[in-house]
Amino acid sequence: MDKVNDTLVTEFVLLGLAQSLEMEIFLFLFFSLFYVGIILGNLFIVLTVIFSPHLHSPMYILLANLSLIDLGLSSTTVPRTISDLFGDCKVISFHKCMIQMFFIHVMGGVEMVLLIAMAYDRYTAICNPLHYLTIMNPKMCTILIVAAWVVGVIHAVSQFVFVIKLPFCGPNHIESFYCDFPRVIKLACMDTYQLEFVVTANSGFISMATFFFLIVSYIFILVTVRQHSSNDLSKAFFTLSAHITVVVLFFAPCMFLYVWPFPTKSMDKFFAIVDFVVTPVLNPAIYTLRNRDMKMAMRKLSRQVVSFREMT
Ligand SMILES: *[C@@H]1O[C@H](CO)[C@@H](O)[C@H](O)[C@H]1NC(C)=O
Repeated sequence: MDKVNDTLVTEFVLLGLAQSLEMEIFLFLFFSLFYVGIILGNLFIVLTVIFSPHLHSPMYILLANLSLIDLGLSSTTVPRTISDLFGDCKVISFHKCMIQMFFIHVMGGVEMVLLIAMAYDRYTAICNPLHYLTIMNPKMCTILIVAAWVVGVIHAVSQFVFVIKLPFCGPNHIESFYCDFPRVIKLACMDTYQLEFVVTANSGFISMATFFFLIVSYIFILVTVRQHSSNDLSKAFFTLSAHITVVVLFFAPCMFLYVWPFPTKSMDKFFAIVDFVVTPVLNPAIYTLRNRDMKMAMRKLSRQVVSFREMT
């Protein structure tokens, strides 16, 4: 109870990314363009999968769910960052800061499990093709997605319950463009060594373990693909390399953000941009530009929209 009374800080100041007006303009264009791309691209994937019955396979259902999460993950920070760029005082209230951290970790946790689920889907399709349809049935798909959300929420709550109780009594400048556990913890007026370890273990070591697990799985799948070289080889190879790219780009910043020892790392905010802005635009870019099934479905969908508009 005492701790609640200690809390004097009611807002945090986000110092942001830009040091100069040119940088602000550049970042404004960069974030805005990417965010529009993230919204349009990911919504396009979701709608295409929903309205194309032949894309109702586990791979595309997982992909559509990943698109939704990508949209959610970048929406936790990017809109606010854009509007903050030209404000004089980038103040964020205590509650909004806490809410932002919470949702970043829910979305991040869900995305992590979805990437594992997508790897498992490809593993089953390639290494166990005869049983693929019985293993990856609609029920399994639903279980994987529910599991992703449960893990995401547990992951966020298990760090949040500690941070929300911290006493904040003075310093409130965050040298970044968003609120996250490592930087907020350092502002607390108490020794947070143990809590820093909790965050490093929960966000850092888990992303590191998941990353290595996924990379090893994909190497295993690639080796299997090579052994059974068939006509599908190049298609499988393309899908797998797309997955691996996403995995590397998603986890590399996470590992840097959370595993790196806490003091002095001013570059971390630039790495975080990759997770909020680059990875979320990558899925649509990869799947809409290169995947034949997806392209055909999109063309069909846009024809339907056009003929629907002619009808009305
Ligand atoms: C996400 O997964 C669930 C469960 O399998 C599925 O019902 C839903 O349609 C998926 N979402 C999208 C946008 O495809």
